[in-house]
Amino acid sequence: MKASSRESDQTDPDLEAFEAVRAALPGLAQGLSAEDLAAQSMPDCSPGKWHLAHSSWFFEAMILADTPGYAPVDPRLQTLFNSYYEALGARVERHERGLMTRPSLDEVMAYRREIDRRMTAWLSEGRADARQRYLFTLGLHHEQQHQELFLMDLLNLMARSPLEPAAYEVEPRTRPVEPAKGGFSRFEGGLVEIGHDGRGFAFDNEGPAHRVWLEPYALANDLVANGDWIGFIQDGGYTRAELWLSDGWATVKAEGWEAPLYWRRDDNGWTTMTLAGRTPVDPAAPVRHISFYEADAFSRWAGKRLPTEAEWEHAVRCRPEAFSNAFGEVWQWTASGYAPYPGFRPTEGTAAEYNGKFMANQMVLRGSSFATAEGHARVGYRNFFYPQQRWAFMGLRLAGDTAPASLTRATDGGETARFRRDLLAGLSRSPKVASPKWLYDAEGSRLFEDITRLPEYYPTRQEAALLREVAPRWAARFGPDAVLVEFGSGASEKTRIVLDAAPDLAAYVPIDISADALDLAARRVAEDYPSLRIEPLVGDFLHLGALPAGTGSGRRIGFFPGSTIGNLERDEAVAFLKAARGLLGDDALFVLGVDLAKDPAVLVAAYDDAAGVTAAFNRNLLVRANREIGAGFDVDAFAHRAVWNAAASRMEMHLEATREMAIEVEGRRIAFARGETIHTESSRKYTEASVRELAEASGWRVTAFESGPAPSVALALLEA
Ligand SMILES: C[S@@+](CC[C@H](N)C(=O)[O-])C[C@H]1O[C@@H](n2cnc3c(N)ncnc32)[C@H](O)[C@@H]1O
Repeated sequence: MKASSRESDQTDPDLEAFEAVRAALPGLAQGLSAEDLAAQSMPDCSPGKWHLAHSSWFFEAMILADTPGYAPVDPRLQTLFNSYYEALGARVERHERGLMTRPSLDEVMAYRREIDRRMTAWLSEGRADARQRYLFTLGLHHEQQHQELFLMDLLNLMARSPLEPAAYEVEPRTRPVEPAKGGFSRFEGGLVEIGHDGRGFAFDNEGPAHRVWLEPYALANDLVANGDWIGFIQDGGYTRAELWLSDGWATVKAEGWEAPLYWRRDDNGWTTMTLAGRTPVDPAAPVRHISFYEADAFSRWAGKRLPTEAEWEHAVRCRPEAFSNAFGEVWQWTASGYAPYPGFRPTEGTAAEYNGKFMANQMVLRGSSFATAEGHARVGYRNFFYPQQRWAFMGLRLAGDTAPASLTRATDGGETARFRRDLLAGLSRSPKVASPKWLYDAEGSRLFEDITRLPEYYPTRQEAALLREVAPRWAARFGPDAVLVEFGSGASEKTRIVLDAAPDLAAYVPIDISADALDLAARRVAEDYPSLRIEPLVGDFLHLGALPAGTGSGRRIGFFPGSTIGNLERDEAVAFLKAARGLLGDDALFVLGVDLAKDPAVLVAAYDDAAGVTAAFNRNLLVRANREIGAGFDVDAFAHRAVWNAAASRMEMHLEATREMAIEVEGRRIAFARGETIHTESSRKYTEASVRELAEASGWRVTAFESGPAPSVALALLEA
């Protein structure tokens, strides 16, 4: 601020900044009724009218009242709109702010205008010293904080209204979400500096700059998305105490949490409340409205952790380009408690109470949200909330202690935990078994693609040829706006035959347990079918949740090729087909691919090829177990076996121990006798009769059954 008078100075940057910042709150209030602005939805929230008044009070109490002989606009307002400043005397309790029907909204707006007038005069005097200049800038940033609080509180109010009204036609301040980059960025750590170094404005809690020691770590390049969160819910995230901190679990139970705040599930899937009303949850959008406890539990489920605030700040300072949506989407929970930095000194004077006195029992969030005012956020900014609070625009970004290649998706870690549990359970049985779904890590999926091109492996070629023949006829029955849902989609190669035959599909939902295969396939399909909506779901098709919301209103078409149904035990197959029918709805169609019973010599050759690719695919289970759960298998000591089991009409893959041995996983010793096997996959071979019987037992009707030339496979069209 200049020392001379600035009355005639049209381009005074302080005045311009003041006017711009002060215009925002009335702008946000425009179109809202006096009733909207008077109500208080919960003790943590304040009425809009209160924000309009308090942010004006701040300039009056911190700056204008500093002038000797200052006469307040209305002394009563000093009490009504003091938030938490003990030094400034009495105040209305926070939870009673909604009771202030007086002053009226008009009177509050008049108060605002009067403060604007007085502040403009104060600015034009140009007599501010360094401390007052700081308070002035603090007042602007304070006002910007209340712009975001206004939106948070308004959303909470609208969400509590039975009418769930839209506060605005479109959410204010939204900008396109930056596309996901995938993966994690690795940092060496060491002795690094964080905190405010004194240049430019910062709140007192951001300084001083100081050194911290960081171990090597990895920070996710992307925010956790709604789709990831749905995976957490579907995996029982809110029902598994082992994932939660004790206080968090107590809160889950006391509050009955089953999803992020504002989420609701109905027949069409998840919806959430936004400032533009209730809308479907977009699986690709960053998750919002989760507490620290939920962020922490999700991280544990994903086999990751939350970053510390020092890790977050160091990473974003060093390599801002590595991260999508570091700012401008959601505040990101960190593992750091809100505490003073070494050498912290609160701002002198009344504003000493601004930050420092809250430094207990809260957690730090970094970044900024879509509702944060432009120019308000900084890399060193420390936002803070209590761990159970979730009405702010808050989400998370995962961290890990290292960044091996497998750390590419939020779901990997949770998958590893399930793999460990499942494999240990299977190896503890007699005879030993492993679910075939674990064959498909990134390498397993790649090997399976190699298998499909082997001369001995007829099923893929035969099925693709048959599909080319029937797809145009069957696709004619899909109807408008249909959604193709593929189970175990792998490389989504056969899908293209269906997509070509049904060019007006509304959406394609590939579901696969292999995140890497799914990612790659979804990207390739997206490249080649640019106008198709693709909603990939990583997960186990044996534990089906809900389809992504808003995919299309037409028929759901299940697609389950590759004779993957043959991998399931009969009970599993029935349960799966029933669950799929429930997921796809009463109007659904289902295209099922099966392999037909045939000469065992042809079958054995297909599962034990001369080039040894199927053997590598089978043994890769042990490689995966060694890498992901440190199982310590001697992979070369296991032989691949492909066996025809006539009684069960199935091909079986086994891994046979060629010598006596033992492995130890998590303190459990698992012994193998020589010749003992792990049964890794069954592939049931069907007949038309057994397909019809299975479909009918599962609540489907076979409306078409087509088989191809030898070696034959078949496709069945089922109707719900
Ligand atoms: C035999 S491949 C078939 C791939 C493709 N549909 C085809 O026809 O070529 C089986 C696929 O199902 C996936 N898969 C196996 N079990 C699964 C499960 N329980 N949940 C989800 N995906 C699974 C595997 O990752 C793999 O991509």
